[in-house]
Amino acid sequence: MATLVIVGALWGDEAKGKLVDALAEGAKWNIRFSGGNNAGHTVKTGGLTYRFHLIPSGILHPDCIAVLGGGMVVCPKALLEEYDEALAQAGKLGTLKISASAHVVFPYHRQIDELEEGLRSSKIGTTSRGIGPAYQDKAARIGIRMGEFVDPQRFRERITDVLSFKNRLLELLGGKPLDPDELITEYCEYAARIAPFVSDVEHEVNDAVHRGDAVLFEGAQGAMLDLDQGNYPFVTSSHPITAGACIGTGMPPTKVDNVVGVCVAYATRVGSGPFPTELNDETGERIRIAGNEFGTTTGRARRCGWLDLVALRQSCRMNGFTSLAVTRLDVLSGFKDIKVCVAYELDGRRIDWMPSDASVLERVKPVYETLPGWSGDLPSCRALADLPETAQSFLKRVEQFTGTPVSLVSIGANREETIFARPELLWR
Ligand code: IMO
Ligand code: MG
Repeated sequence: MATLVIVGALWGDEAKGKLVDALAEGAKWNIRFSGGNNAGHTVKTGGLTYRFHLIPSGILHPDCIAVLGGGMVVCPKALLEEYDEALAQAGKLGTLKISASAHVVFPYHRQIDELEEGLRSSKIGTTSRGIGPAYQDKAARIGIRMGEFVDPQRFRERITDVLSFKNRLLELLGGKPLDPDELITEYCEYAARIAPFVSDVEHEVNDAVHRGDAVLFEGAQGAMLDLDQGNYPFVTSSHPITAGACIGTGMPPTKVDNVVGVCVAYATRVGSGPFPTELNDETGERIRIAGNEFGTTTGRARRCGWLDLVALRQSCRMNGFTSLAVTRLDVLSGFKDIKVCVAYELDGRRIDWMPSDASVLERVKPVYETLPGWSGDLPSCRALADLPETAQSFLKRVEQFTGTPVSLVSIGANREETIFARPELLWR
């Protein structure tokens, strides 16, 4: 047992939550390292559906310590609601710990998120959870961290200071200034409930990592939404890539053992931004309906398209994936042909990499390879050999193109609808 990092390979919504839940069996720690409640991680088990936005999905295993890492931005109200709901459903949860370094999301962050998005001529399509503005404050060094938040005296001082500034900004942007006393009263109540969970958890995580405990790092979003490596400016404000697991928890890069990149058998994107393989036709609609491609967090219809192997290979390289998990293979069941993008055409030239400039990426045209489709009842398969031969060939093509082996295949939303194709590539 050692460290295992789960990362969304492309634009998020790859069923990371489901896989984390499946892999957390036997893990001692499960740590979210970036983002906030812009994430939506769904776990289906025992006839129940759990929707996590902030809490690591592994909390459903009572022996697992679930950590909200310092790289996260956390809305206290959303956190408490999520915790109460999960506890009511499950009856028993693992231990919850919150890093004192995680930043707190306040109502002004959410207001500013919506106001800024409204003023942009080219919309990002944010989740309006205040994520960008909270990370802006962190970078501007005026953010309020969990450690300060749960200390009433310090919280009052900091929020009074910050709010005098934010209220002027809200007025300038056409928003509604917030009443300091009301905000302090409401948030002090949240803080009192959250305080017992908050600690300098980084040193415990580092002890665990150095001891060789099974530590599962749960990525949110996807690599192409990374602030630095994604399709800027159509990105989130944090680091969903493997390196983000180090930044957001203090784990040294030399302690990363295995990294699983999670990708769907096709591709989805929610919000704006370039998406070379997007299908604005009946096929795209058919995938959306078959895959129930509507957001867990915002309910928005996800844009759907074919699997982009060019983008996936780039993701494999930047993230150092030691293996891939391919999800929703069952959704493509019944398609006669399946396409995968193997190159782009840019201004009459063929290229095999993803341009970093979003406006250039908007111009590329996908070059497709057509593979035979499959049919049948995939969710009942429990081994690679149970899959239709054409589905196995599809997986082999993905492996060959990306140079990365497939360790996991998901063929349904339920915990047991998972094929552990190469368990030796997961936990060492
Ligand atoms: P999970 O963890 C898919 C997208 C938003 C928007 C952009 C910026 O469920 O895979 P933000 O609110 O973060 O400032 O929005 O990022 N986005 C996601 N897309 N899955 C997610 O998370 C996402 N989190 C943010 O749609 O395009
Ligand atoms: Mg999601």
